[in-house]
Amino acid sequence: MTAEPRTSIARLHERRQSPAWLFFRRFLAHPLRLASVLESSPALSRLVAEQLPSGPGDFVIELGAGTGPVTRALLAAGVAPERLIAVEIDPEMAAFLRRRVPGVTVLACDALALERALPAEARGRVGAVICGLPISLLPAAQRAELVGKMLSLLPPGRPFLAYTHRLTSPLQAAELGLAGERRAFTLLNLPPASVWAYRPLP
Ligand SMILES: C[S@@+](CC[C@H](N)C(=O)[O-])C[C@H]1O[C@@H](n2cnc3c(N)ncnc32)[C@H](O)[C@@H]1O
Repeated sequence: MTAEPRTSIARLHERRQSPAWLFFRRFLAHPLRLASVLESSPALSRLVAEQLPSGPGDFVIELGAGTGPVTRALLAAGVAPERLIAVEIDPEMAAFLRRRVPGVTVLACDALALERALPAEARGRVGAVICGLPISLLPAAQRAELVGKMLSLLPPGRPFLAYTHRLTSPLQAAELGLAGERRAFTLLNLPPASVWAYRPLP
């Protein structure tokens, strides 16, 4: 007789902790900022991690880390937690992420204000930037600003990565002075998704 209410409470608690439920709730609060009802699948997250262009001593910056599927894939691919910096504007998701990936530096801030929040030891030592926020939905001026900021963190000529549900490039690369290349595509994500790499045009 008493088992039933306890089970229901346990289930409710479990659901409140679940990344999928948190992601969906935050999507309802900020649909354009999340631009998806589901976090990235393990398959897409692995594809992103496989494209990582950095060396072992470099810092890796993930923008728009959300509930952390890509963060976890990066760790599984061998990125050391102390070299990984996850940036997430939503304080609730950032707090969740800190619990989900202990050891990773989680910055609860706007990606556009990252230079102020970036830890001193990472300055000049960033080897990879992954853009997980829906960059194609940003106003054009903010999009260009973010591209400039991502490139300024990287060694000259090094591409940044972006993943997208769009069938085509999420950035008008030539207009932004970039060369874009689709590096990977997967049907194992809802919706299917691609990983792109962008480097400045010579
Ligand atoms: C499409 S979701 C991707 C989340 C996660 N990386 C994944 O793959 O499931 C975009 C994420 O970017 C975050 N975001 C949007 N705008 C941002 C900004 N200006 N600065 C930092 N994070 C931002 C959102 O809160 C959301 O968590």
